[in-house]
Amino acid sequence: MGDQGSEVLPLLGQVAAAVSEAVGRVRPELEGVDPVVRRSDRADFQSNVALPLAKRVQGKPVELAGEIAAVLSATVASVEVSGPGFLNIGVADSAIWAQVAARLGHPRLGVAASEAGRRTVIDYSAPNVAKEMHVGHLRTTIIGDSLARVLDFLGAAVIRQNHLGDWGTQFGMLIQYLDEHPDTHWHQDEVGSGSSAVSALDTLYKAARKEFDVDTEFADRARARVVALQSGDPATRAAWTTIVAESEKAFDAVYARLGVLLTADDYVGESFYNSMLADTIAELVDKGIAVDSDGALVVFSETVTGPDDKPVPLMVRKGDGGYGYDTTDLATIRYRLAHLHAERLLYITDSRQALHFRLIFETARRAGWLTPSTEAEHIAFGTVLGPDGRPFKTRAGGTVRLTDLLDDAVAHARAIVAEKNPHLPAAELDEIAEQAGIGAVKYADLSTSRLKDYTFDLDRMVALTGNTGVYLQYAHARIHSILRKSDAGASAIDPTVALQPAERALALGLDAYNDAITQVAKTLEPHHLCVYLYNLARTFTTFYETCPVRTAPDPIRANRLALCHLTARTLAHGLSLLGIPAPHRM
Ligand code: ARG
Repeated sequence: MGDQGSEVLPLLGQVAAAVSEAVGRVRPELEGVDPVVRRSDRADFQSNVALPLAKRVQGKPVELAGEIAAVLSATVASVEVSGPGFLNIGVADSAIWAQVAARLGHPRLGVAASEAGRRTVIDYSAPNVAKEMHVGHLRTTIIGDSLARVLDFLGAAVIRQNHLGDWGTQFGMLIQYLDEHPDTHWHQDEVGSGSSAVSALDTLYKAARKEFDVDTEFADRARARVVALQSGDPATRAAWTTIVAESEKAFDAVYARLGVLLTADDYVGESFYNSMLADTIAELVDKGIAVDSDGALVVFSETVTGPDDKPVPLMVRKGDGGYGYDTTDLATIRYRLAHLHAERLLYITDSRQALHFRLIFETARRAGWLTPSTEAEHIAFGTVLGPDGRPFKTRAGGTVRLTDLLDDAVAHARAIVAEKNPHLPAAELDEIAEQAGIGAVKYADLSTSRLKDYTFDLDRMVALTGNTGVYLQYAHARIHSILRKSDAGASAIDPTVALQPAERALALGLDAYNDAITQVAKTLEPHHLCVYLYNLARTFTTFYETCPVRTAPDPIRANRLALCHLTARTLAHGLSLLGIPAPHRM
């Protein structure tokens, strides 16, 4: 489409430009200052620009505001000075209708593709092979997925990377154990659809671990298996490959249920970097960055010191010659920059890995892999808490499996949906309960500021009122029900219709969609979009309560229907950027 990249400039931006221009005319030396325009209760917009400026030119804010207003009145519908020097600015009704029409007619709701092809690697989810996905993988998967959607929508070239934990000594132990217990059934086709291969492997791994701890002979055989795996022994490799493949099947099932974008192509696990580790380290040694420390190779940080005031070390090669998580991430960052040509790297993990990434990024900078034109950022997040305010655990104190948690959420949502609409056919109820339950979990996560911990409280998450996913889904479905009943196609907006206050508030809210998305992209905090959508839904409610749609005479009716259409589309689009479905009926 021709206008994919074009933008419907929000009125706020237009007003800001007008204020800037007026400031430049009044005081040429102040040209280019921030016009500090925002939405206001007193008028459509307010600019506070005169206050800081008056200080700079040593004048009175009210007088400066008056001079700016005099110039501005030529370009905006109304402007008046209030209080100590605020500018209250109104725009013309016809200009507001024009925005609604332009957004409705635009394939991207008027939002520009501002990321312009920036190659952005997003490293997220990354569960560990032979272990079940648990509550600890929830946030990385949901936040990563939403950021992937937002940046992709804004035109970034997003490269999703699922840095699977698929390598390490534990696999030697597990493979040896499986070999010695040929009667174990753990393949997906053996355990059936009610369970998963990882679930079986998880149990078997725990059994292997136990045997390892009590049986020294098994421990020796397990260690020999680690060597066999690392040196590429075909039978051991084949067993490992099967374990990885079966685990991926189980992860795929969770991803499908969660409705995230991750696919088989995105699995690029730790093992992928195996063959690059030696080279990576050699380069760091050559450059004098990695140094010997008691037989191990380490990189001493130039910026981070430990409690003893000594530089913190990053372990590059252990004393026994083994490589770990740190080394793999060094090879990974080098690969992503040199071979994937990434311009920006985002890592979505909990905040406890902050030091790890700080040290990795520092080393990559010193090695010259990260340059001033490339960017690496750890997108950290807080912990999911249980009702007791501690990290979420099962009643028995175990880790909460992601599938159990989702089942629970869907059951809760099902009760709410069934109560609200008792006549839904069973199949439809199932589908909507799934969409509402999963959506509720995602929304609760995304609507909290990333770094904060939050409590996993299903009653609150699936509530029909308040800032919840279910509330937004219902708000969206209700608009579709209005549109169905009014059975009118989009007839043209008449820009000469005078706006009622509630129509005005809704139209200006719709016009601010760009800013909400831009803010998410800037801060990598999806909750800004949640706040926006929640406010939009509430503004719509006020509009619908005060402005009848179906019974209004044309052209008022047509204009109001246009507002309904644009609100429904904006809500659905916003929810899709959060990875949340927006059913038309609930
Ligand atoms: N598998 C790791 C974990 O479960 C997360 C990996 C994150 N990505 C990375 N490149 N280190 O904690």
